[in-house]
Amino acid sequence: MRGNEVDAEQIRELVDIPNGVASRSIFVDEELYRRELKEIFGRGWLMVGHESQVPEPDDFMLSRMGEESVILTRDRQGELHVLLNSCRHRGMKVCRFDKGNTRLFTCPYHAWSYTTDGALVDRAGGLFGVPGWKTHYHEALDKKEWGLISVAQMRNYKGTIWATWDIDAPPLEEYLGSFRYWLDSALNSRSGEEGGSTVLVGVQKWRVKCNWKFAPTNFIGDAAHAVSHKSVNLANISPSGSGRRDERAKGHYAFGWPELGHGGLGFTPRPEEEWEQGSVFGRFPEVSEYFREVFEKRKVERAGETHYQGKGTIFPNTSFHEDQPRTIIVHHPNGPEETEFWRYYLVDADAPEFVKDTLRHYFMTYSGPGGMTEQDDLENWLYASDASKGMIARQFPYNYQQGLGYSEPFDGYPGSVWCGYRETEQNQLIFLKRWSEFMQGWNWDELMHRTPRPDYVPFPLKSTEATEEAR
Ligand code: FES
Ligand code: FE
Repeated sequence: MRGNEVDAEQIRELVDIPNGVASRSIFVDEELYRRELKEIFGRGWLMVGHESQVPEPDDFMLSRMGEESVILTRDRQGELHVLLNSCRHRGMKVCRFDKGNTRLFTCPYHAWSYTTDGALVDRAGGLFGVPGWKTHYHEALDKKEWGLISVAQMRNYKGTIWATWDIDAPPLEEYLGSFRYWLDSALNSRSGEEGGSTVLVGVQKWRVKCNWKFAPTNFIGDAAHAVSHKSVNLANISPSGSGRRDERAKGHYAFGWPELGHGGLGFTPRPEEEWEQGSVFGRFPEVSEYFREVFEKRKVERAGETHYQGKGTIFPNTSFHEDQPRTIIVHHPNGPEETEFWRYYLVDADAPEFVKDTLRHYFMTYSGPGGMTEQDDLENWLYASDASKGMIARQFPYNYQQGLGYSEPFDGYPGSVWCGYRETEQNQLIFLKRWSEFMQGWNWDELMHRTPRPDYVPFPLKSTEATEEAR
């Protein structure tokens, strides 16, 4: 056990798994937020960017990990790095451009200079390196000791770049468990081919006055909020076509990983005719034909699978859509009452230009702050945050009882449970269960369930007898 026992006990009481309720203070409290930065964003695997954003030697892009500003770089030798964007001398940001190419990050404050692998330049005196290294530091400053801070671990996973500040964190693949196959599906629409995606145009970024957890707990499987998106159906710009959001509920299921905190909505393989009727790209015949071919290929590759992956959330703050359009959205915390959203739009790297062009226009009208759907969600999260922070409001818990006790183990993905219909809050509760485990200060052996804990709260499942009866 790490941290303070009394605090851990108080935190344990905030999420009541068996009864499906959680304290609102989780979404509004400043002290809990500070603890999240340390226990969750200081330890978990966070998505930083995509390799296609830094294709050439000395390319860089700014990103974030929790509240920390970091730089994703490709050094002169082609190796990727994730570096803290803070000068080792007095903390100034050494990089203030969103992206670019440079041989050196020269700090604007006193001109310490770093190469794109983070090293403090090993050159005495002059404009670069450490000014005055010979004359004023008397050659005593050990430049090897004062490079930019690097993350403890970094992983390039099929083009996406992930990092953690914790050297003891398990490898990313173990952290993802079998939920990894869902991410694979989002990263490559043709699962048999490696490295098939690139980020289309730039990253869309916007800030909203809401707690960061509203977004991942929405993306993890809040099917019931489809009512918020009626405007999209009326305008017939939903990727699944007009009215389909409700109809497709029949073939959709919630899958969650109670021991890892990830989850999403999956679906049964769709017949060909459903694709034809449902695709919003039907109005662009060439684009529709491209996606139909991709879909056909995927169907062959996945022959025999009973369920496909869909949208979901990787604990703590990365969500994605697997189906067209494929996007990744990272929810960066900006204090307990503000979130900065970063949305990456993915497209097959070798897709024809007309497909990329159509998608670019589509993304702008459908997603992002200027799109149709995002505004619906943002409004819900903004007002929910605002109406939960009052001294009276925060005394009453949120309700997560939808479908509670109707989940059962799913053999297709080791470690997962599923609910036979998608209108369930099992995944939101699974996310909060994981939140509680991190926040109580469990160590990695405990978090990865290598060491059993006496106070472990199992996720409520349908009893075997009840399941058999239902069959
Ligand atoms: Fe960067 Fe002084 S703060 S050189
Ligand atoms: Fe939504």
